[in-house]
Amino acid sequence: MNIGIVGAGHIGQAIATIAGRYGYRAMLSNARGPETISELASALGCEVGTAVEAVAFGDLVAVAIPLKAYPLLPIALFDGKIVMDTGNYYPERDGRVAELDSHAITTSGLLARQLPGASVVKAFNAILAAQIITDGRPAGTSGRRALPIAGDDGETKQIVATFIDRAGFDTVDVGTLADSWKIERARPAYCIPMNKAHLAAVLQQTTRESFVPEGSWRRS
Ligand SMILES: NC(=O)c1ccc[n+]([C@@H]2O[C@H](COP(=O)([O-])OP(=O)(O)OC[C@H]3O[C@@H](n4cnc5c(N)ncnc54)[C@H](OP(=O)(O)O)[C@@H]3O)[C@@H](O)[C@H]2O)c1
Repeated sequence: MNIGIVGAGHIGQAIATIAGRYGYRAMLSNARGPETISELASALGCEVGTAVEAVAFGDLVAVAIPLKAYPLLPIALFDGKIVMDTGNYYPERDGRVAELDSHAITTSGLLARQLPGASVVKAFNAILAAQIITDGRPAGTSGRRALPIAGDDGETKQIVATFIDRAGFDTVDVGTLADSWKIERARPAYCIPMNKAHLAAVLQQTTRESFVPEGSWRRS
C-alpha cells in the first residue's frame, strides 16, 4: 500500500518518516513544488511529486495542510481514495469559518464535503507531529499510546487503524465524522498522550462543554 502525502510540513514529514520506517512507499508534496523538497524527501527516504501526483500515487492519502488550503485540493483525483485527515481548525491561521464556530459541521466533515468521492478518516490530528516519530511502540507494549480516529465507513477506518498500528499506536474509534468534534482542537483528548483505556474513558466523558485550556497540550 502506497502513502500519498499532501503537505510537507511538520505532520507530512512525520507521516513520511513512519511510512518509510514501517516499509511503506510514500510520496511527499507541498504547495511550492517538488523541487523545493527534493533534498528533504531523499533524507526521509520517500518519493517527491506535485500534490496531484501524490494523490494519484497514494492508496492512502494523508491530507496534512492548513484547513484554509482545502479548496485548493485536486478534488476529482480523490475519487475512490482513503484519506487520512490530519487537520485542525486554528482560526488565527485559517480565518474564521462560521459553520465550525457554530458547530454546524466538524473540520473533517468539511473536508469530506470538499472530497465527495473519498472516504475520509480523521487520524493523526490529535498528536504533536514530533511525537508521531518518537512515541510509537510495538503492539502489545504496556501503556502503548493510543490515537483517536473517526470516519463514516468501517472498512476504511480499519485500513487506517492497521496503518496506525504498524506505526506504533493503538487506536480508539470515536465514531463518525459527525462525532469527530470530540477530538478536535482543545478537547480533552487533543494531543495528550494516553493509553487505549484512558483515551476511551476520556472520550466517553467528553461533552460539548469539555475543553482544555488553549495551548495547554503543547506543554504535555
Ligand atoms: N504540527 C503539529 O504538531 C500538528 C499536529 C496535529 C495536527 N496538525 C494539523 O495538520 C495540518 C498540517 O499541519 P503542519 O503543522 O504540518 O503544517 P505546516 O508545518 O505549516 O505545513 C503545511 C504544509 O502544507 C503545504 N500546503 C499548503 N497548501 C497546500 C496545497 N494546496 N497543496 C499541497 N500542499 C500544501 C505547505 O506547503 P509549502 O511548504 O510549500 O508552503 C506545507 O508543506 C494542520 O491542519 C494542523 O493543524 C498539526
